[in-house]
Amino acid sequence: MSAPIGLFFGSTTGNTADVAERIARLIGPERVDLHDIIDIAPAAMEDYEYLIVGIPTWDFGEQQEDWLEVWPELDRLKLAGRRCALFGLGDQLGYGEWYLDAMGLLHDKLRAAGAEPVGYWPVQGYDFEGSKALTPDGRYFVGLALDEDSQRAETDGRLEIWVPQVLDAFALD
Ligand SMILES: Cc1cc2nc3c(=O)[nH]c(=O)nc-3n(C[C@H](O)[C@H](O)[C@H](O)COP(=O)(O)O)c2cc1C
Repeated sequence: MSAPIGLFFGSTTGNTADVAERIARLIGPERVDLHDIIDIAPAAMEDYEYLIVGIPTWDFGEQQEDWLEVWPELDRLKLAGRRCALFGLGDQLGYGEWYLDAMGLLHDKLRAAGAEPVGYWPVQGYDFEGSKALTPDGRYFVGLALDEDSQRAETDGRLEIWVPQVLDAFALD
């Protein structure tokens, strides 16, 4: 664990894992440690000054299963002073009433642990009915909103905009 950025993700069918690798390539692999949350305790987040955290939503607004497994441990995290960017995967056409709900739930947990969220993302360009991952004014998602089911072609372009914004917010670029 020598890199300044820790990227933690969970993934059931591989989409979030794939995006995590693409983010690492854009940042430069030597600057980021990739951790699948199935293999590591969330307490390892405390070892990093900068965090990127990825979660897909499953089963009508629920957290991905590996995140759900460690969910109670998130209450014990101490992340004061850590900047944290989130990215979420979901399917806005198939599950538009719960689009990216899990990212909203994780955002609230990490903020309660003291993390400072960065990397909010505007809601323009999406078509969904409801989401727990919105800011109170409804203008932003609380992290990067991705959709490998309905808007796969948008993902690379979104990453190319968001990753530099996050590095800027981390004051690393
Ligand atoms: C049974 C099922 C339930 C899902 N429920 C939701 C949901 O409630 N909200 C949402 O935004 N996406 C939902 N999705 C879409 C997944 O989040 C999406 O396919 C995601 O890319 C999966 O990521 P993963 O491959 O990393 O697990 C669901 C997908 C399936 C198959």
